Amino acid sequence: MSVDVFEKLNDILKDIEEAGIEDQDQLESFRIKYLGSKNILKSLGGEIRNVPNERKKDFGQLLNKIKKEAKSKFDSTQSRLSVGKTDKKNINIDLTAPPEELMIGARHPVSIVMNKIIDIFSRIGFTVAEDREIEEDWYNFTAMNTPEHHPARDMQDTFYLKGSTTQLLRTHTSSVQSRVMTTQKPPIRIIAPGRVYRNETISARSHCQFHQVEGLYIDKDVSFADMKQTLLYFAQEMYGANTKIRLRPSYFPFTEPSAEMDVWMGTDTEEARKLTKGTGWLEVLGCGMVDPNVLTNCGIDPEEYTGFAFGIGIERTALQNYGIKDIRMLFENDVRFLKQFRSAF
Ligand code: PHE
Repeated sequence: MSVDVFEKLNDILKDIEEAGIEDQDQLESFRIKYLGSKNILKSLGGEIRNVPNERKKDFGQLLNKIKKEAKSKFDSTQSRLSVGKTDKKNINIDLTAPPEELMIGARHPVSIVMNKIIDIFSRIGFTVAEDREIEEDWYNFTAMNTPEHHPARDMQDTFYLKGSTTQLLRTHTSSVQSRVMTTQKPPIRIIAPGRVYRNETISARSHCQFHQVEGLYIDKDVSFADMKQTLLYFAQEMYGANTKIRLRPSYFPFTEPSAEMDVWMGTDTEEARKLTKGTGWLEVLGCGMVDPNVLTNCGIDPEEYTGFAFGIGIERTALQNYGIKDIRMLFENDVRFLKQFRSAF
């Protein structure tokens, strides 16, 4: 009887030593059989009762040896299998190869310029106002002192929504002026960045979509001088501390008087001459005192309040700043082009 038990134990030891474990399933069966809570060694351990006294010690030692063997076989197989697993998974990886370059996004030049303008005006108390691109005719034109059949509507070729005579893609961010004036009470001091649309033939110089930043300031006793000083501040922040500006008389239906602001680029460099067509002056924005009709249309009393407004074209500025030759490049979203722009804004 006792010999049988020793034989059994030696068979088990051999089984353990020779066990060929090739995967996790087999390893798990091995664990359950020899190391689990109901392993076969436990039941055999009880047989010590039947072992003659002088051999009890041998029996105990053999049993311990088997347990140790099972444990070490389990441990070594487990690490062999897990090493094998990573090896298999990463079989094609060359650990000496230089890492692949991470693609880090860059801001779009239009966003950079827009954010810079927003930053400049927020420093003097302007807050950002945004509104819809699909706009009602009234906010885009009528409220802005450009009623139906007004010749000034021809200044901006408009995309109307299919089948609609009242819904359009806003032609300028001035639509945000009327949105703000009809919902807020003065003092109003906002800048409105956004995309606008005009039905124009796409070329290197013009596109059917572009961006503007609108500015509007309404309060008691706001004067043309206030506007000029604000725009001078803007120009000097944008183009350098010694920048000179000039205001040229112009016409917009929603401002009276109206002006266009030029920035002095000079005629010293070939680049400046090209940019300014030899005049040295670069046209930067349209502006003017808010027409009293616009205030009335939007429910603000023109006897009590006055204000000024301006609209800056973003693409033009982006093209100048970065020396980009073709406006279409700003809308193609070619990453080879876009990733060249780095900015704090
Ligand atoms: N909305 C005008 C344009 O798109 C620009 C402008 C805005 C002019 C505000 C005056 C005041 O051309």
